Amino acid sequence: REREEEMETKDYRAHVLAIPYPSQGHINPMLQFSKRLSSKGLKATFATTLFISQTMKPESFGSGVEMDTISDGCDEGGFSEADSVDDYLKRLEVAGSKTLVELIRKYKTSSHPIDCILYDAFLPWALDVAKQFGLIGAAFFTQACVVNYIYYYAYHGRLSLPVSSVPVSIPGLPLLQLRDMPSFIYVAGSYPSYFELVLSQFSNADKADFILVNTFYELEHEAVDSMSKVISPLLTIGPTIPSMYLDKGVENDKDYDLNLFKLDSTSTKWLSTKPPGSVVYVSFGSMANLSINQMKELAWGLKQTNFYILWVVRSSEVPKIPDRFVEEMGDKALIANWITQTEVLAHEAVGCFFTHCGWNSTIEALCLGVPMVAMPQWTDQTTDAKYVEDVWKVGVRVNLDENGIVSRYEIERCIRQVMEGEEGKVMKENARKWKELAIESVCEGGSSHKSIDQFVSKISTTMS
Ligand code: UDX
Repeated sequence: REREEEMETKDYRAHVLAIPYPSQGHINPMLQFSKRLSSKGLKATFATTLFISQTMKPESFGSGVEMDTISDGCDEGGFSEADSVDDYLKRLEVAGSKTLVELIRKYKTSSHPIDCILYDAFLPWALDVAKQFGLIGAAFFTQACVVNYIYYYAYHGRLSLPVSSVPVSIPGLPLLQLRDMPSFIYVAGSYPSYFELVLSQFSNADKADFILVNTFYELEHEAVDSMSKVISPLLTIGPTIPSMYLDKGVENDKDYDLNLFKLDSTSTKWLSTKPPGSVVYVSFGSMANLSINQMKELAWGLKQTNFYILWVVRSSEVPKIPDRFVEEMGDKALIANWITQTEVLAHEAVGCFFTHCGWNSTIEALCLGVPMVAMPQWTDQTTDAKYVEDVWKVGVRVNLDENGIVSRYEIERCIRQVMEGEEGKVMKENARKWKELAIESVCEGGSSHKSIDQFVSKISTTMS
């Protein structure tokens, strides 16, 4: 009878516990991937930090993914509670490891113990915890494969830092100039704690049971092939955008996001009053801050184009918008603090994405067929911008002037190049082809589909 009761209550799905790095650009892809695992029959629990969990709506979590929390040691204020990046990362590791252990123990005595820890590769300590409990450890590399491969090279001392001789040659990558490298490499000494963090992804990756990369094979096949030779098993499981845009038959999958900013829902209505391809959508993601001067040039450059502008300016950046801009633009511009980006990119009114080239923004635009103007700010964005312009040929990258600013004339020139004329048409056509390949990759028989099935089947057969 006891056995029968156990059979009735025990959850026989393999259980994956996802631990994202606590920032918007890392939460989004891992949440989408967790949802995909859940749709494939695994039980997925998503554990953000306590601080983040307090800022989000519980209804964000539809589609079978459950929620739990760990601590980053900054439960009251999150990142702003720490003294520095270094201090935050240390607190995250100490409190994160301790509370992850507690979480694993809690589930151990429940009807669904954890079988696999899916951790952001920025958190290598989560793999140590997984191994301590004999669990499967799957590293989730949030950024582009090329970027990860450059960091792999740097971690293993194969790039002499600071890089002084260019172009840099890495197998599977095009020759790279300094400005094409991730900023931590080309701006010597910039953000040492973050640089250490991105390199630390490889400190124990050889012990991970899976290396999952948030890309699709066709997009970066040369880099994927090169990296697979040195670190394995490497599986490409992207793109991780909401499945309603990728999978046939999924009509509405809207309860997908976990926004760390307050959503402004007026943009879709505004977009629907604009002709197809007439709007430039502008966003710099969740972290980048522009100088007041740069905001001024950007604003007046956007105005000069005379196109419709949908501009996401986070509330902390709003005071930098030049006086008179909003009134001078009238109905030509809509400024929103935060929107559902994939919904906007999928809208037929959008003709071009003016972006900082964060990896999520880049891959979302590729998968939704939107050409780009790339204005990278830091971290991996510079390398993404290189690929957008020269490898995938879906956009144009801005040039800095002698003062390190992108002038209003340059902004106007680049937007016109994408929105008008023959070159723009080619970029749009290329973007459409990438969209098709992205969809193919996650459909039955596609490269990511096969990788995800391989991962799911391995986890399911080795579950405790
Ligand atoms: C950060 C890094 O900057 C980025 O380069 C790295 O690859 C991931 O972590 P972030 O700067 O926020 O991320 O950029 P990005 O990667 O583009 O992620 C932003 C996410 O927020 C995207 O998924 C985007 O769809 C979403 N977003 C952005 C919104 O939902 N609404 C908005 O208004 C703006």
